[in-house]
Amino acid sequence: MTVIDDIKGRLDILDVVSRYANLQRSGRSYKANCPFHTERTPSFHVFPERQSWRCFGACATGGDLFSFLMRIENLEFGEALKVLAQQAGVTLPEKRERKDENDAIYSINEASREFFSGLLSSGGRGADARAYLLERGLEQGTIERFQLGLSPSDGESLRRHLASKGYTQEQMALAGVVTQGRNGSYRDLFRSRLMFPIWDAEGRLAGFGGRALDDSGPKYLNSPRSPAFDKGRILYAMHLAKDAVRERGIVIVEGYMDAIVAHQGGFSNVVASMGTALTQHQASLVRGLVRKPGSSDPGDVILALDPDDAGNKATSGGLESESSLNALQTVFKGRVGRTNFYERPDSPSFRVALLPHGKDPDEIILESPEEWTRLVANAVPFMDYLFAVYSSSEDLSTPQGKSRVADKFKLFIAATPDPFEQDHYFQRLAALLEVSDATLRASLGRPGPGGPSNRDRSTGPNRTTRSQPGRVDRQDQDTTATPFARMDHDPLEEYCMALILRDSEFLHPDGHGKNGSGETESAGFTEEAGDAYKLRLEYFQRVDNRDVFTNWIRCSTLDTLRDSLDEELKEHLEHLLTKFLPPSDRKQREAAFKDCVRRLEERYLRDLKREEGMRLSEATVEEVEEQGQEILQLNERLKKVYGR
Ligand code: UTP
Ligand code: MN
Repeated sequence: MTVIDDIKGRLDILDVVSRYANLQRSGRSYKANCPFHTERTPSFHVFPERQSWRCFGACATGGDLFSFLMRIENLEFGEALKVLAQQAGVTLPEKRERKDENDAIYSINEASREFFSGLLSSGGRGADARAYLLERGLEQGTIERFQLGLSPSDGESLRRHLASKGYTQEQMALAGVVTQGRNGSYRDLFRSRLMFPIWDAEGRLAGFGGRALDDSGPKYLNSPRSPAFDKGRILYAMHLAKDAVRERGIVIVEGYMDAIVAHQGGFSNVVASMGTALTQHQASLVRGLVRKPGSSDPGDVILALDPDDAGNKATSGGLESESSLNALQTVFKGRVGRTNFYERPDSPSFRVALLPHGKDPDEIILESPEEWTRLVANAVPFMDYLFAVYSSSEDLSTPQGKSRVADKFKLFIAATPDPFEQDHYFQRLAALLEVSDATLRASLGRPGPGGPSNRDRSTGPNRTTRSQPGRVDRQDQDTTATPFARMDHDPLEEYCMALILRDSEFLHPDGHGKNGSGETESAGFTEEAGDAYKLRLEYFQRVDNRDVFTNWIRCSTLDTLRDSLDEELKEHLEHLLTKFLPPSDRKQREAAFKDCVRRLEERYLRDLKREEGMRLSEATVEEVEEQGQEILQLNERLKKVYGR
């Protein structure tokens, strides 16, 4: 999977666009006044099923998430990539220097880990620490598998050891294993602690958690944030759990010990959140794994929580599981890949395994693995859990308490993908608060169940638009224009790219050079054949092809093209140059090019038509008449293409 697809799979175009436009649901699309030009009636549409946008008005253009951001923020592809990668929690391949820096951190961590392991297996304090671990139920093999260790008590042995291996104090400080004191001298960060190496999902040794063996200081000390270690981006034991998670979903516990004992007991899809609420990065990481391509069963996401603990936290204000659900819902949003999120809610179920009071998962598993299996199997839907927590933690006899609970639920209910489920929770909330539906609706500011607020959509008995002719039937809708749009690559587009890379004159057959025509966004046999074989930027659905195409128009040689491209796209260019073998005969290549353009155009127009269908499926008669002219033109163009 390319980075671009990864990002697209994790973000929803609706979220991104709604930061710039006031989207209103309208049938199968969302519409707004076009953010790119001034207008009074909305002609800008976003199609969640296709994850695309289009302005049917003055702009007459459209595209995907990337092209939207590039256009609205006026960004180059590389910049948009950075922004979106960050929002999606996707790590871009590192740049050279950064990579060297990180490599130093990993190797310092590795050397430290070896040092800690050595101490744990030695006598004296090592023997005490081993005894403690065995008493906690760990087997020797487990200690080795998780490479546990012990840090020295003197605060300087590790630093000395690393210095003897040639590392500088600055490097050690960057890795976080030593800290600089007020007087400027460096000391070991971890002293007399049981050491838990922490790997990232790729299995790189990113940092450590150090548990105190007595009551002094904080119970756990973790490596400080570094270019390699960020607690909010890592789930402990994920590098070991990955395969199992892909197979059967994920169980998230809080502590290092819990995850370790779970793995020891054969529960290999368990990871630890390291004591804090899930972040969006962690949720993205989970999402990337539990989503099964091509399957409608994305696997469960289960949080193991101590209910009393949650209750206590809820009364004191924030609820960690609440932020966790928030992160999960934002990231999953009930949409898997490009699958429509409001008609096929195949988001994983977020559930909570309620643990008996005061017992950590490690204790339960050691006592009875069957009990653990049962607790996980009986996990309740997250919303049910929230109902239980809120109803016990807030005083629901007062209007203030009711309003607080309503407020808290608002987000969660709105983010619930399935409209029926949404309505179910809505009713339940009304019952819990003992208020009428109408009151609750008014307080939540939503006109009716089934989606974001929208004045245009009739929700009452006069929902006649549903049966109007022209509305696309649910049965025959396919959610993407081409099966290839779901895949990493689009052979048709790529073949076409390969052809124009081979014969750049296909782009400027008039011999004036690519810039000579003054056109930057289209190319083709403009003079000989009118518009017939004009390759237009819009025909490309994939942003990687689009960007290479745009750059190619401006460049005269492959070398300058290479230089003009972003790192990610260079790879794509090489792929285009090596994967396809255009015919050796020039006439054949030309025929192939024409064929490609025709097919791309056909596909483009068909897409346009489909989007029209979606847009008009719930439009009023007046709106349809208003748009009539455009539709006729589109039909004409389609006929021409098919007839050719
Ligand atoms: P717990 O206090 O439940 O610890 O914190 P634990 O892992 O169960 O350890 P034992 O069983 O008492 O030995 C859960 C997790 O929260 C993070 C750690 O990741 C810990 O595993 N934590 C906790 C910290 O980072 N710092 C702390 O001071 C406490
Ligand atoms: Mn514990």
